[in-house]
Order: sequence, then structure tokens, then C-alpha cells
Amino acid sequence: MSFLPFTTATRSSHRNPPLLEIQQLSASYAGTGHPPVFNDISLKIHQGEVICLLGASGCGKSTLLRTLGGLQPAQKGSIFLEGEKVRATRPEIGFVFQKAVLFPWQNVRKSIAFGLTLRKGPRYKNADLRKKVDAALDDVGLHDAGHLHAHQLSGGMAQRVSLARALAREPSLLLLDEPLGALDAITRLEMQKLILDVAERHKIAVLWVTHDIDEALLVADRIFLMDRRPGRIVDEWHVSSPKPRFDSLDSLLPLRMTILSALSKVAGALRSSDPASLSTAA
Ligand SMILES: Nc1ncnc2c1ncn2[C@@H]1O[C@H](COP(=O)(O)OP(=O)(O)OP(=O)(O)O)[C@@H](O)[C@H]1O
Ligand SMILES: [Mg+2]
Repeated sequence: MSFLPFTTATRSSHRNPPLLEIQQLSASYAGTGHPPVFNDISLKIHQGEVICLLGASGCGKSTLLRTLGGLQPAQKGSIFLEGEKVRATRPEIGFVFQKAVLFPWQNVRKSIAFGLTLRKGPRYKNADLRKKVDAALDDVGLHDAGHLHAHQLSGGMAQRVSLARALAREPSLLLLDEPLGALDAITRLEMQKLILDVAERHKIAVLWVTHDIDEALLVADRIFLMDRRPGRIVDEWHVSSPKPRFDSLDSLLPLRMTILSALSKVAGALRSSDPASLSTAA
């Protein structure tokens, strides 16, 4: 039995049916016959789990998220959400990109409501729409900022709006593509806490692409490492130490070194004889 706050694992120990299951998924931009961007990826994510995805630039992390979000088709394989096959975008899957996609003519409230009006099915009554927008603004701590437009928002606020827009659709899975990559360290910490908090409160599973090992160690229940050409998952670590981990990262230093070493191998950027140039970025 291991007393370390992490374990290396190739299989998930959950007994409940997964929220998301991917079976032998492959995707290509160039079409059948060309080498896939990622190939034969199978994984399971359970309700409320936070999974971080690390990997060298260009290995296909964003492409994987876009495929899971139904923003582009898979070449092969299947995606199941709550047991149902996913073929196109679904409200149960929320997406937050590295850069907030906000229209200059919409204020924060309109921007959040916009995502709700795009959904299929009957339109929300105005009062319901207002309630949902209010709840999403409260979730991200922006209740006083509903009247502001994109140019009046800091980078952190803009990402809160993106998160609120995704949350308003009441997703069971959030796909985060380096959402905090452009933020300063303090704002980043605040946003990490915020995302963990809303995910836990609403029991949302999170698949979070990051280049920052420390971010992964702070937030993840499991960390996946992706290799490239073609993209595939080559390592998985369970991080069992309790959250929040902001004051207990020391205990995860051995895991940090293990991940850094694995990441440097897939990045192909370092020789084992050159540890001095290790950095946390892929
Ligand atoms: N729209 C596109 N059309 C054609 N090729 C693309 C397109 N988007 C990405 N690619 C290619 O797919 C591969 C994977 O790209 P992707 O953006 O998924 O990588 P990534 O792991 O997210 O990289 P990064 O860490 O830099 O964001 C790259 O070789 C890239 O050039
Ligand atoms: Mg990317």
C-alpha cells in the first residue's frame, strides 16, 4: 500500500458508470487517409472529477477538446455522455477557451443570455432567463458587473464571463482549454479556486488543458499526459491529497518531478543530462 498523496495508474478505480466515456477516438483535419492528429484515445471521466491534460504544444489537446465538445467531427471512435452517444454540441458540455469570446456590442448580461438563447427547444421566458443569468453571475462573483461591455473588463473578469456563460447552461462537463493561460499569478489563483468551487458545488466534471504542472497539481484528481504524432494518452496519475492544496503543495514535489520528467520526454526538448534547463512549461 502506498502512503504517497498520488499514485500512477492506468485504470480508474470508480465503480459508478462514467459521465463521459471515449472509446478509441481519432481525429484528423485533413480527412481519412491522412495521419490523425490524435489516435485511439480511450478514457472515462466520472461525475465531479477534475482531470488535467498536459502535453507538448501541438500534440492535439485543443483538437481533442473540440471533438469532445462536438465542435468538429471525430474520424473514428465514439463519445458517450451519460451513456448517450455525442454527435454534435450539447448544452451539458460547457466550453471555456484561452481567450474569452465576447462580442463588443453585448454587455455581460447579454453575453451570458446569448448562450442560452442558442439552445434547441422552447425559448426561455424573460423572467427565467434573468434568473439563470443572475445565478451564473453570482456563481462567478460578477453580480455587479452585468452592465459592463467587453472593453471594460479585465482579463480575469472576461474569463469569469466565459465561465458564467458556460455555467448558465447547467453543464455536467466543463471543457477548459488553457482558460487561465493569459492571467497574472494572483488572478490565476483566484480563478483556480473559483473553478474548483463551482465544479464542486454543481458536481460538474472538468477536463482542463493546462501547460502549468503546478496548476494541475493544485486542481486535479487525475492528470493525463498526452504525447504527439499522433496524439495519445501515455501516462496517468491520481492525485489523492485533499483539496484545497494551496498550502500543501510540498507533499506533491516528488510527483511534480515525475511529471516534469515525463513531460520533458514527450516534449523532446530536453536530454536527461540537461536537468538545469527544466521549466514548468511544456
Ligand atoms: N484548424 C486546423 N486545421 C488544420 N490543422 C490544425 C487545425 N488546428 C490544429 N491543427 C493541427 O493539429 C495539431 C494539433 O493542434 P492542437 O491545437 O490541437 O494542439 P495543442 O496540443 O492544443 O497545442 P497547444 O498546446 O499549442 O495549444 C497541430 O499540428 C496543428 O497544426
Ligand atoms: Mg491548444
